[in-house]
Amino acid sequence: MADSENIILINERKVEVKNIQHDITLLDWLRNYNKITGTKEGCAEGDCGACSVIIADDGSDSSRPINSCLVRLGQVIGSSVTTIEGLGCDKNPHPLQIAFTKEHASQCGFCTPGFIMSGISLLNSNKKITDDTINDAISGNLCRCTGYSPIIKAIKSVANDRISKNDNQTINKNKKNKLGNVTYFKPSNLKELKNYLNDVKDFQFLAGGTDLNLYRPIINQKEDNIICLDSIKELNHIKHHKEKIELGGAVTIENFLEAIKSKMPQLIEILQRFGSPQIRNQGTIGGNLCTSSPIGDIAPILLVLNSDLKIFGRNGFKKINIKKFFKGYRKNILKKDEIISSLELPIANKKNKIFSWKLSKRYDQDISTISLAINIQIQDNIIKELYMAAGGVAETPKLLDKLCKKMVEKNFDDSIEFAIHNLDKFIQPISDLRGSSHYRLEAMKGLFRRLQICLRQDKESLSIMEV
Ligand SMILES: Cc1cc2nc3c(=O)[nH]c(=O)nc-3n(C[C@H](O)[C@H](O)[C@H](O)COP(=O)(O)OP(=O)(O)OC[C@H]3O[C@@H](n4cnc5c(N)ncnc54)[C@H](O)[C@@H]3O)c2cc1C
Ligand code: FES
Ligand code: FES
Repeated sequence: MADSENIILINERKVEVKNIQHDITLLDWLRNYNKITGTKEGCAEGDCGACSVIIADDGSDSSRPINSCLVRLGQVIGSSVTTIEGLGCDKNPHPLQIAFTKEHASQCGFCTPGFIMSGISLLNSNKKITDDTINDAISGNLCRCTGYSPIIKAIKSVANDRISKNDNQTINKNKKNKLGNVTYFKPSNLKELKNYLNDVKDFQFLAGGTDLNLYRPIINQKEDNIICLDSIKELNHIKHHKEKIELGGAVTIENFLEAIKSKMPQLIEILQRFGSPQIRNQGTIGGNLCTSSPIGDIAPILLVLNSDLKIFGRNGFKKINIKKFFKGYRKNILKKDEIISSLELPIANKKNKIFSWKLSKRYDQDISTISLAINIQIQDNIIKELYMAAGGVAETPKLLDKLCKKMVEKNFDDSIEFAIHNLDKFIQPISDLRGSSHYRLEAMKGLFRRLQICLRQDKESLSIMEV
């Protein structure tokens, strides 16, 4: 096969992508064009995990679980994809498949391929196999009939059967792929991106696609140009400095989580509750900020840490503070040709305590109804420094600077009581499907009460499970 053709490696076999009329997902292509039907469609929007596959960009250690229903075929040209069929078959099943039957971990079986792919991703990683890591690995998979205990038992029983990594075949990645009516441009650096910005008309940026691909019409008939950002090397870097971490705009939430683990462990819980491993391995920091959703989980953290964003466009770079980024409901200051190329995450002062909490209908795999991030310094029970930012209480993520001003240089207990009794003067949340205005206000008071308990007991954190 000529390298210039559009190739995807499916279960170690080179498959040419051809005869595509419309923009489709990886899941549709596997099932409808290749009759690889072990991968199932449940919700088609990232919530159930039935469509989970493992993807590797260069046949190396970078393999990760993703939801194939949320990925457009054009995003994965040149990648290696492992589906349930690649693990084993009736005559030669994978040890995890055997364990599922031994532990009675499957009844109707619809969810089983997805659970097995999530289990394999964990077995394939460097993580220790514990209840916590198993719970996390399957947090993006739903089972309606079996119950989770046998599934967890099955995964635990093969903790020593880690499968070998993906094969070493490499495929040339094309810089431009036309699939039906959609052309995908894949710049590998900012210089190439600049050329596309000058040459391509009417385009959309796409990073992971975990937000944008939800709005993709089932069959998109329109001519479209998509500029992919995840292939740009400058957008994938992570640099650790003494006082800050610099993160490229296309760093995935999972890599963000790994990067902060030792220096900002206070952020682990909220990032671990971000979607599921499948979502975190696909969704990016830049994408999260650029959706400009009032309930995005990253913005409140960046607001209380006073992060700077680096913007890149046709006219080069500029820097702006996160406080100036959001303009209105799902609106930000970026021009059509501008991207977030990187951001700086200042490491919090050792004297400060950082808290970041979200409330959602489910503990795992759910978008926040409200969230609150706090950066506070207390000396002798007096608040010396305070930054608070909330999600889900206004049309943008909101820095609670007026409330903070009223609370500093005062006893923390009195200040928090003041905040709880006067919160309606500082935030007026809206009602929507996730929660009423009244619920949001009362729930936010609950988070302030949680802060009070943490400070009284001198705790670094108090998770919702402990409360
Ligand atoms: C099941 C599910 C669970 C989720 N859970 C959570 C959650 O717990 N918390 C949460 O906050 N969100 C959650 N999300 C939302 C989403 O996953 C995140 O917002 C994610 O970070 C988006 O990143 P992306 O790279 O996939 O964005 P994309 O979908 O690729 O892009 C989103 C938008 O940003 C633009 N864009 C992307 N990157 C850049 C850039 N660098 N510069 C300029 N523009 C850019 C795109 O053009 C597009 O308009 C969830 C989504 C799903 C489907
Ligand atoms: S089909 Fe439900 S997550 Fe993809
Ligand atoms: S076995 Fe039926 S949904 Fe899980």
